[in-house]
Amino acid sequence: METNKLQAVIFDLDGVITDSAKYHYQAWKMLADRLDIPFDEEYNEKLKGVSRMESLELILKNGDACEKFTAEEKAALADEKNEFYKELIHQITPADILPGMAEFLAELRAAGIRTAVASVSRNAPFILAQLGVTDSFDYVCGAAAVERAKPFPDIFLVAAQHVGADPAACVGVEDAEAGIRAINAAGMFSVGVGTPDQMREAKLILSGTHERSLARIREASGLA
Ligand code: BG6
Ligand code: MG
Repeated sequence: METNKLQAVIFDLDGVITDSAKYHYQAWKMLADRLDIPFDEEYNEKLKGVSRMESLELILKNGDACEKFTAEEKAALADEKNEFYKELIHQITPADILPGMAEFLAELRAAGIRTAVASVSRNAPFILAQLGVTDSFDYVCGAAAVERAKPFPDIFLVAAQHVGADPAACVGVEDAEAGIRAINAAGMFSVGVGTPDQMREAKLILSGTHERSLARIREASGLA
């Protein structure tokens, strides 16, 4: 298999394809306020790319409340957040795809480059359907496909395997530090969407999805 050609681009969903990261924040904020636990957008950065239950643990930790709840109660708290989140994401429409992403997906298709989603969100299939982009991807890799979440590379590696791509010939796109680490650990070229501070470990940083450019990604990654 040739590794100097770009074979696949693997995308995170929340905060990369659409701004659902803001709905995760709103839903966790509702729960944190109800539990009287301090929670703000800065602390929320730690939750990006992290699984639902791990996110809950991080929130409880911020209020010294990890020991206050049984495992059953924690499951109920995570459900409460998810029910609110599901109400919020019902408002997502095709107009909510982030700037430039629809064009970028079409450009990749036209260039014969495979595309996949690697998202630990169990709501990913619903969001992709709301956006009307399910068919724009060759494969959608979800939390159920892997045991270890990001920052482990597993979800990106499984996605690459499913689209028949060599990890060294793949680019991963992420908005979370845990996700960038996962891409780097998978031996892929990492593209970070966010500020240089948030995306410290990304090989290429874009301030927003509007800045995406296949030519720039090819040049920076050395994948033709
Ligand atoms: C990730 C988000 O994509 O999915 C996290 O960045 C979120 O914020 C995680 O907690 C799990 O999502 P869900 O929808 O299964 O609770
Ligand atoms: Mg994300």
